[in-house]
Amino acid sequence: MNEPYESGEAGQFGGAGEGSEFDLENRLVAPDYVPEDGEVENPLRPKTLSEYIGQEKAKENLAVFIEAARQRKESLDHVLLYGPPGLGKTTLAGVIANELGVNLRVTSGPAIEKPGDLAALLTNLGPGDVLFIDEIHRLSRSVEEILYPAMEDYAIDIITGKGQMAASYHLPLPHFTLVGATTRAGQISAPLRDRFGVVLRLELYTPEELARIVTRSAKILGIAIEQDGALEIASRSRGTPRIANRMLKRVRDFAQLMTGGVITYESAKLGLDRLEIDELGLDANDRRMLTAMIRFYNGGPVGLETLAAAIGEEAVTLEDVYEPYLMQIGFLSRTPRGRCVTKAAYEHLGLQAPGDGDAAQQSLFRS
Ligand code: ADE
Repeated sequence: MNEPYESGEAGQFGGAGEGSEFDLENRLVAPDYVPEDGEVENPLRPKTLSEYIGQEKAKENLAVFIEAARQRKESLDHVLLYGPPGLGKTTLAGVIANELGVNLRVTSGPAIEKPGDLAALLTNLGPGDVLFIDEIHRLSRSVEEILYPAMEDYAIDIITGKGQMAASYHLPLPHFTLVGATTRAGQISAPLRDRFGVVLRLELYTPEELARIVTRSAKILGIAIEQDGALEIASRSRGTPRIANRMLKRVRDFAQLMTGGVITYESAKLGLDRLEIDELGLDANDRRMLTAMIRFYNGGPVGLETLAAAIGEEAVTLEDVYEPYLMQIGFLSRTPRGRCVTKAAYEHLGLQAPGDGDAAQQSLFRS
């Protein structure tokens, strides 16, 4: 659990939606980590802020805080990163540690089962080190309570034994930086949230930023790619570098057989069409969700829980994995009464929106 960054404790980030009707495990556009994406020590991960593409607002602020901490020879204030999965929270934690010239320890909320697990991690940190806790909203209450004094006073109180044998130890810790990451900022308890000095929201990437990431990754992997090929992959990657890098590796195979090993617009398009990722990056699962909203709920409004039950998926998965991108491209809106499919989504699916001339569509819905 408390392996250093270099050794790559990758497995703990894996695994989406077991037992769901949706085939999330093998979903090319799943933003969650899968082992194929490479270990934490991944050559595609940028190591410095200047190599890190996108997230300009977060980077600008971080650069100031890092430099100020460095000049004062102090540890960086604790940092909370939040936003949809696959946007580079772990990568950014690695960049922060590297820029500070300290070690990074990587773990996750569910991996820290007992207060003692966290105590072991904390007492092994060196001065200034970065402790990265992914999915920090999943820490248990008892573990969180160890974290508060650790974050605030750089000390932990450990109680051993029971009854008359109980003893309490006050252990000072080196000054360290906690980098917490979550897809669900709303689920972090207020006392924990309040102990982060820096709170940064990561945004979905633009196609242009993703094209730069794909071009950079292709260079590192020794893959020839044309600008149009990179943009085609980028525009189907749902704003997510992890998906873009995964698509790059798949499209490479098509390019090898079709276009002499160079990823062109044509080979990117053909490869992604074959993989059933459409021009906007939607896969069969996204289309199924939108179609279910249209067929069963007339396009909405429909409550998240109701929709999740209707398509056999967990509400948090819909909220974290499907919705951010569908909202970004304007296919889904959130209203006080529930989620609604927009006219643009109907058009993309080749369906007529209600009130847009109706006969054909009405018969389709009733089929
Ligand atoms: N690889 C994955 N995410 C990246 C990013 N934000 N910048 C550069 N390369 C990346």
